Amino acid sequence: MAMTGCGSAAPAVSLSNEELSQVVETSDEWIASRTGIRSRRLASANESLVGFATEAAREAIAMANLDPTDIDLILLATSTPEDLFGTACQIQAQLGATRAVAFDLTAACSGFVFGLVTAAQFIRTGVYKNVVLIGADVLSRWVDWEDRRTCVLFGDGAGAVVLQPDDRDRLLGFALRSDGTQNSYLNLAYRAEHVALTDKVAIGRGTFAPITMNGQEVYRFAARRVPEIIEKALFHAELTANDVDWLLLHQANQRILDAVAQRLKIPPEKVISNLAEFGNTSAASIPLALDAEVRQGRMKSGDIVASAGFGAGLSWGAAIFEWGC
Ligand code: ACO
Repeated sequence: MAMTGCGSAAPAVSLSNEELSQVVETSDEWIASRTGIRSRRLASANESLVGFATEAAREAIAMANLDPTDIDLILLATSTPEDLFGTACQIQAQLGATRAVAFDLTAACSGFVFGLVTAAQFIRTGVYKNVVLIGADVLSRWVDWEDRRTCVLFGDGAGAVVLQPDDRDRLLGFALRSDGTQNSYLNLAYRAEHVALTDKVAIGRGTFAPITMNGQEVYRFAARRVPEIIEKALFHAELTANDVDWLLLHQANQRILDAVAQRLKIPPEKVISNLAEFGNTSAASIPLALDAEVRQGRMKSGDIVASAGFGAGLSWGAAIFEWGC
């Protein structure tokens, strides 16, 4: 398997920390020093997850020198679907990827890494040849904009990659984990109200509540589990941290990026970060950051990337891959 194309898309409008301090009581100093975030892109009511995801996928397909009709599988990693029945089919239609089967995969901020490993299985078994994996989220729709502990963290966007078979399997190693016993640390949960249909039958009707997070527990979880899972994936790849050209983590918080890099003894110049401009874009953060590195010519074919996603579930996972073919 090889990664042969990438693309990304984000809302047109950005909101700086300074501007955000007119919405909640906060400051650029507080947000930037604790998270590294300076602004975030926010989707307007006229923009859509489908739109961002389609644009990112289109770019990735073009870079891979494919046509949408060549695509066999579209995997959409998202936690913010525009249809709970699944959003991937709308992207398939917009792309004109008439031959592709399309479905959603939900694993919060681990979605891209979980999706990468899932897509690789289809390619390794020979079932599908041309796969588009998209990570996309519009968390601004689910944040409590009165809660300064969470609303300062998130932004919107999408990133995509094309995966194809190759003589050599460039997904070199991976490891995935889940721990539902710690689910309460980070939620975007359904809250139901009791609605009586008859004297005997009542249903629970409601909606999804805003994001809730125990920031300190999430920080502790990430700082401990992410280096551990990367080491596990490196072990499967028969590599060490010294072999890594790029550390590409889910962009949650600069402090987490720094702590993980320090634990793995990976120098800061190998750590990819787009937090300052985009904030935490959940499933989109890894492919969005990857696309910028590739298009600006920093990441080259053959570079070894250690990537890791982590977040709600709780879920976490690492994938070691070689970019390009
Ligand atoms: N602006 C100003 N003050 C704030 C803000 C804000 N935006 N948010 C919280 N504060 C205040 C709090 O009210 C509190 O004040 P108090 O002591 O008077 O009560 C004080 O700052 C400290 O609050 P904490 O919540 O303890 O802040 P902490 O130092 O833990 O930093 C942070 C919060 C940045 C979220 C940190 O916990 C963290 O980085 N956690 C990791 C979680 C994460 O990255 N989540 C991303 C989503 S999950 C994912 O993608 C994996």
